Amino acid sequence: QKDAALAAIANAQTLDAIEEQRVAALGKKGWVSLALKTLGQMSPDERQQAAPAIQAIRAEISDALMAKKSALESAELEAQLANETVDLTLPAPQQPSGTVHPVSQVMDELAEIFVDLGFAVATGPEIEDDWHNFTALNMDESHPARAMHDTFYFPDKDGEGRSMLLRTHTSPVQIRSMVEQGAPIRIIAPGRVYRSDSDATHTPMFHQVEGLVIDKGIHLGHLKWTLETFLKAFFERDDIVLRLRPSYFPFTEPSVEIDVGFEVVDGRRVLGGDGDAPGHGWMELLGSGMVNRRVIEFAGLDPDEWQGFAFGVGVDRLAMLKYGMDDLRAFFDGDVRWLQHYGFSP
Ligand code: PHE
Repeated sequence: QKDAALAAIANAQTLDAIEEQRVAALGKKGWVSLALKTLGQMSPDERQQAAPAIQAIRAEISDALMAKKSALESAELEAQLANETVDLTLPAPQQPSGTVHPVSQVMDELAEIFVDLGFAVATGPEIEDDWHNFTALNMDESHPARAMHDTFYFPDKDGEGRSMLLRTHTSPVQIRSMVEQGAPIRIIAPGRVYRSDSDATHTPMFHQVEGLVIDKGIHLGHLKWTLETFLKAFFERDDIVLRLRPSYFPFTEPSVEIDVGFEVVDGRRVLGGDGDAPGHGWMELLGSGMVNRRVIEFAGLDPDEWQGFAFGVGVDRLAMLKYGMDDLRAFFDGDVRWLQHYGFSP
């Protein structure tokens, strides 16, 4: 029986067959186990005679089982390794990698230019109160300019008439900066703003960058030089021409709309050159002005001591102009093909 078992073990081709042989010999009802049980019924003398032989058989069988088992296991591993060779000379598959979004990119560019001019970057909350967004900017409850802002209001929870809102522009950061840090001030404040408006050139959320300078003896010349220097650096052209046009904002006096001369290249408007030249034109780019003395007062400063200028410009619009994009909504669709088209993906 032993020789038959050893032969079967040697012939086993699978781990299952080995297990079968183990049960047949060493299992509870296996023949080796049964032989061991007979020892119990023998007299001590008989047992001393028979036991070593049976123990030896058990050891031999179990050694054979273990040896065959590990041989089969390593053969299996060997086969697996032969099957799954890795070709290290193959080129690795391309992993898609992210890029900075055009809006973030432009905000970074803006910050870099203004930091070079000695400005700090300030921020304010997107959930703003009525006072910072309107009242302190010289728009009291009855001011008609409020209606033009298409404001998203939050429900007036405490019933005290102090409703919170999504800021409609970055101008409340002017107030926060003056209140918190006093004068002098030189800041830009980039960020998200919200208005209930949506078409090809308007999205309910968009981005602005606010600029504010408060110091002694600040005048319109400082405003013009700062914006001209900024626009030349941003559009990387020395021939950017500004046209200052009288306008109205409640928080600036006088208010100045800044137009920039453009030329038409491949059917597209590109900023640069004199807007009055043949084939050129003027594009309305941003709102600005000297900070209204009422606003300086609202923020707790003395308008006879401190003057300043402020401006606000759409970041998305700047990005569209610089990179030749034509649909604002595409900025917020997250379509990689669109980013790639404008050179924003590797
Ligand atoms: N806050 C104005 C707007 O959103 C822009 C602006 C900012 C105008 C600062 C003048 C001065 O339209």
